[in-house]
Amino acid sequence: MKFGYFDDVQREYVIERPDTPYPWINYLGNEKFFSLISNTSGGYCFYRDARLMRLTRYRYNSVPTDAGGRYFYLRDGNDVWNPGWAPVKAKPDRYRCRHGLGYTVIESERNQLTARQLSFVPIGADCEVHRVTLKNQSGAVKEIKLFSFVEFCVWNAYDDMTNFQRNFNTGEVEIDGSAIYHKTEYRERRNHYAVFSVNAPIQGYDTDRESFLGLYNGFDRPDAVFNGKPGNSVASGWSPIGSHCLGVTLAPGEEKSYIFVLGYCENPEDQKWEAHGVINKEPARRLLDRFHTDRQVEIAFDELKNYWEGLLSRFCLQSEDPKLDRMVSVWNQYQCMITFNMSRSASYFESGIGRGMGFRDSTQDLLGFVHLIPSRAKARILDIAATQMADGSAYHQYQPLTKRGNMEVGSGFNDDPLWLIFGVTAYLKETGDWSILKESVPFDNDEKKSASLLEHLRRSFGHVLDNLGPHGLPLIGRADWNDCLNLNCFSKKPGESFQTVENRESGVAESVFIAGMLVYIAPSYAEILRRGGLTSEAEVVLKAAKDMEQAVIRYGWDGEWYLRAYDAMGNKVGSRECDEGKLFIEPQGFCAMAGIGMDQGLPERALDSVKEHLDTKYGIVLNWPSYTTYRLNLGEISSYPPGYKENGGIFCHNNPWISIAETMVGHGERAFEVYRKTCPAYLEDISEIHRTEPYVYAQMIAGRDAPRFGEAKNSWLTGTAAWTFYDVSQFILGIRPQFDGLQIDPCVPSALKGFTVTRRFRGADYVIEVRNPDGVEKGIKTMTLDGMLITGNLLPDCSDGKTHRVVAVMG
Ligand code: GLC
Ligand code: GLC
Repeated sequence: MKFGYFDDVQREYVIERPDTPYPWINYLGNEKFFSLISNTSGGYCFYRDARLMRLTRYRYNSVPTDAGGRYFYLRDGNDVWNPGWAPVKAKPDRYRCRHGLGYTVIESERNQLTARQLSFVPIGADCEVHRVTLKNQSGAVKEIKLFSFVEFCVWNAYDDMTNFQRNFNTGEVEIDGSAIYHKTEYRERRNHYAVFSVNAPIQGYDTDRESFLGLYNGFDRPDAVFNGKPGNSVASGWSPIGSHCLGVTLAPGEEKSYIFVLGYCENPEDQKWEAHGVINKEPARRLLDRFHTDRQVEIAFDELKNYWEGLLSRFCLQSEDPKLDRMVSVWNQYQCMITFNMSRSASYFESGIGRGMGFRDSTQDLLGFVHLIPSRAKARILDIAATQMADGSAYHQYQPLTKRGNMEVGSGFNDDPLWLIFGVTAYLKETGDWSILKESVPFDNDEKKSASLLEHLRRSFGHVLDNLGPHGLPLIGRADWNDCLNLNCFSKKPGESFQTVENRESGVAESVFIAGMLVYIAPSYAEILRRGGLTSEAEVVLKAAKDMEQAVIRYGWDGEWYLRAYDAMGNKVGSRECDEGKLFIEPQGFCAMAGIGMDQGLPERALDSVKEHLDTKYGIVLNWPSYTTYRLNLGEISSYPPGYKENGGIFCHNNPWISIAETMVGHGERAFEVYRKTCPAYLEDISEIHRTEPYVYAQMIAGRDAPRFGEAKNSWLTGTAAWTFYDVSQFILGIRPQFDGLQIDPCVPSALKGFTVTRRFRGADYVIEVRNPDGVEKGIKTMTLDGMLITGNLLPDCSDGKTHRVVAVMG
């Protein structure tokens, strides 16, 4: 069942009813000011850090769901409703929510009054703009009251949720005309405040939540609105809010619009005050002046649209399959931008108060982002590398505001260092900017301990080789990519975090996954060294990879698939000898991608095993069989009920590894099938089962061992976004950046007749037409560049700012 449709021309997902199977959200903002907004206008906003600089409050895991947002209440006679349906939930006669790229439009109608709410964060401004347009569709004059509402957060969102004994006393506001200022803690150590304003005179306001709602009422029944009278309340402690009340008279057919701005403002330390106790409103006035008129809002909105138009013109697909086109050209790339911005911090499944930026997560995000804005990818690489420790290991996470590693979330995930090499390789292949390797980057953010980025890569690679176990395979440490496979934890205490509990370094538990990763990365890394003149070091790297490959073939092959690991006692994990957890997806993906045992046909064999034992109609499960009991030697993985998360869930993030591996052995049909099964646009028709947004990936879909097989959770912030884009763009469509140019190497279902990709690469545009007249799955027979035949399938790096036509014929 569908709850909306894709508008491919506008690049919007149009939701046709407000009661979607789960709140379907969108993100606003690309730089410093970010907002989450649901299809009923729920959500919140923050400045740079979702935990420390939260402007508005949100209630997690609330009843009803999605409580808190920027709400507009319309009182039309005695009838009260919201354009976004929630929170009053008076049924609109018509409702549409259009989630577009960086904006959301909610349009609805009730009793011949139409309301249109356009919400976005303008480029280069630290605010949300909400323009509310009302139109009287009836034959009689309408007298309407329009109430706005936001609830402020006292900045630190964690403290805001927990520290009431203090926070109920600190809240402070100022009201100046139509502008409401939230200035809690400004009197002491903060030099920032929030402003919420409207570009029209108001009849009144409220800034105290209790006065606006009534102590025993919810957002669905605010006293002020239902009585039709604002309280003109001035918050003093308790819960500061911002609410305007506007009187709107509309003649038949008449339309009026109001621009609400919710922004973040900062003052220099010595210019905090206008007068004693009165905040300096200069920055707020400047901000509000920028979005005062409809014309200004329209220009800013156009600018946003052009911004996305420009970004998405860098990779654009036209094929016979509209679902594929819209995912590749629009939504997958959009999600890559969001994951790049947010890492795993703020979504409807991540509270924004728990997690910082993941070392592994953020480096992987680069894979799907680097072609969009290479300069930001570069800055991110340098930030991440600066949190690395001198021995090559890494903090698992760092805080976006301080950019420092965070020990509270642990360390010792032994795959982390290799992801840095992976990310840098992707950057080099995209940009050809070799200078990045010479950048001086601190270790552990200590400027005194700085070295070139290349040295960081060396320590990364070295860290794996310095930590090998009894079989010559990499020691797993606390965990590898699978955060939940904790082979050295032995946690018995209820509630103890597997991420931070003391890790008993056994010196025994080994990861075949990390081995596969090392072998996969080594050729590129060696090439980087070779090009830097470090030929003998490059050979050492290749030799280490050869040895690792041999170790996997000898100790990491289980007969029909690659083994997952050895536990702290040296027992096999992911072997047919195991009672449960016989087969795991991760090493099949990475070892096959690395081509380990290719001569002996191991990758194909492993992929067949995946198909036989792990594949389901909704995607490939992580392991089989799921663990039905808690295993002290395996940790968090076995804490999940069968079929959820890392225990037999369809962890979408590593499905593309299998898809990529299938392309490497020439299976276009199978690669695409794996891709399609978790791809949201293809799941739109089963939205009632899938439940999360049909335009973005979720981290996990419940596996076949779960009662809710097929139900997705944790949408938006997942490495799935980057990996699926990497898969579909570079391996299925086969438009693959290499150090010296763009390789064209598609691997597709034989029925696909062809496609065209427009690709910006190092400043030149390539219009690449791939034809498949013989219906093959892989292989380029001939290729022309601007009409000239070229040998091989590598397009040279033209770097000339021109547009080049490429025709590649498969066969
Ligand atoms: C989550 C984490 C990611 C990890 C994965 C598997 O998605 O963000 O870092 O690799 O789970 O455990
Ligand atoms: C939990 C989750 C896992 C995630 C990790 C990160 O272990 O199950 O998916 O990667 O937390 O904190």
